Amino acid sequence: MTLTPHSSKVDEMIRRLDEAVAGRDDETRCRSVKQVLIEVVNSGEPFIEPQFLQPAPDRYARRLMHRDPQGRYTVIVMVWGVDQGTPLHDHAGIWCVECVYRGRINVTSYSVRGGDPETGVVQFEKETELLAGVGEAGALIPPFEYHVIRNPDATSSVTIHVYGGEMTYCHVFEPVEGGHRRRFKELSYTG
Ligand SMILES: [Fe+2]
Repeated sequence: MTLTPHSSKVDEMIRRLDEAVAGRDDETRCRSVKQVLIEVVNSGEPFIEPQFLQPAPDRYARRLMHRDPQGRYTVIVMVWGVDQGTPLHDHAGIWCVECVYRGRINVTSYSVRGGDPETGVVQFEKETELLAGVGEAGALIPPFEYHVIRNPDATSSVTIHVYGGEMTYCHVFEPVEGGHRRRFKELSYTG
């Protein structure tokens, strides 16, 4: 699904993201992308079309809003229904900036304390847990790319995610004895 016709705010966001992703390294890119999202969302003007904002019944909705023709980034809108969230997961080595558009989300970040994420059982350490509201953003730069997102409220929340490429898969980590075991997960878009 792509958004056509774009609102002028979406056009502005894409134009500014095109500039932001030209930064010299991931840290610079993420800082600029974060600033763009914060400013666009805090302008207060709704700009995401209603078809992107519907929750899905079984799991959080994930809809493609924009794919950079040069493949440098994608913009994904996620809708978190009541009690919806993610398992502990990585980002396949891709940087990501996430900004709340509606509602609130709870983000818990983890770092690897032992084991080997490539193969066996991994031990994670909880780093930070934060509650983000509208217009607040965070960045995930590999190798610090492990987190859990969930909607803490009794109403839907919406987030905008900019990835440094197109994340077609990730790994989720399921609790097993002695830690978490990695599992490949293909990612698709919600209709
Ligand atoms: Fe994530």
